[in-house]
Amino acid sequence: MTALAPLPDDVIADVIAIRRDLQQHPELGFEERRTAALVAARLRALDYDVTEGIGVTGVAGVTRGTRPGKTIMLRADMDALPIEEENDVAYASQTRGTMHACGHDGHVAMLLGAATLIARRRAELAGTIVLCFQPAEEGRGGAKAMVEDGLLERFGIERAYGLHLASAFPTGIVGLREGAFYASSDSIEITIEGAGGHGAAPHLSIDPIYVAGAFIVAVQQIVARQIDPLAPAVVTIGAVHAGTIHNVIPSRATLLGTVRAFDADVRNALAERIERVLRGVCESSGATYTFDYLRRYPVTSNDAEQTRWVRALAAAEIGATRVIEAPKLMGAEDFSFFAERVPACFYSVGCNGGPATSFPHHHAKFDIDERALETGVRMMTALALNAPEMAP
Ligand code: NI
Repeated sequence: MTALAPLPDDVIADVIAIRRDLQQHPELGFEERRTAALVAARLRALDYDVTEGIGVTGVAGVTRGTRPGKTIMLRADMDALPIEEENDVAYASQTRGTMHACGHDGHVAMLLGAATLIARRRAELAGTIVLCFQPAEEGRGGAKAMVEDGLLERFGIERAYGLHLASAFPTGIVGLREGAFYASSDSIEITIEGAGGHGAAPHLSIDPIYVAGAFIVAVQQIVARQIDPLAPAVVTIGAVHAGTIHNVIPSRATLLGTVRAFDADVRNALAERIERVLRGVCESSGATYTFDYLRRYPVTSNDAEQTRWVRALAAAEIGATRVIEAPKLMGAEDFSFFAERVPACFYSVGCNGGPATSFPHHHAKFDIDERALETGVRMMTALALNAPEMAP
């Protein structure tokens, strides 16, 4: 279908206004009630069939084309983060301690902009377009909640596409890659049970701090010595809690950690071997332990055929020089729960327009170059106009 350039000025202005409104009114995961209501009202005004409350606060807007074609889903996540915003801009967060520090405000605004353009070209559509506004991407698995609430079956979704604004790339660049893109992200929770006592009499105690220290050092042997060096993996212990005072050996230490990988076999090996190391150091010291390995987000893996097709579409829509091969990211993305079930492609849209918009995601000064929004609107609209008939 023909390229969309140039986008109507009223749509771009509207997308920026929505983005700034959401930035001022951020909501945490599964609490996106104002955001979801805004989305639902907008979609209804554009004559979409709207379903609310999917996976707690998720919203789906459906429109059907006049010709046969696949049912495709375009997804935007809606949640903000528990961070106190430090940007000195007129549209800064008005909610203390909460801000859109990952760009999800832009994701919602772009998909609503695309919703407007799709509605205006409804007569040209094939297949069925499902606009999915997802809650709780940040660590709480809103995508999983929507899947478990039957999102994919309810609407018969056959293909899924999603994007993330990325301050790692210059404004307006589209980045994507075939296969593993974002890492899997799991959590470990450990309690080491020793036997408390006087700091001057370690031989009468089982020191859980010593055992925790031995574990923290030893666990890195898994990535260094037991996992294929060509298969990226990370084990990070992010929290250690034990003890109260200089001269007392406590009875217990607790540790929290995160585990990342790009391969299901590596992920499974990490889960098993972390416990093996823990068991070893505890046994050698006479301590006991509890170990919880919490599987959170799977690897986000892009379908090869879909990705090749989206790359070609992006090149046609925004120009081949603006489409790049994205590197793998050790971050995680719960779009993976959709990509596990239907052929899917997730892509990045660069939003770094200079120093003010170059802060990393989740930084208190994170902000986007709003000129990037046009690229996302353009991509999502092009997917809606083309994917139902043309995508593999
Ligand atoms: Ni994000």
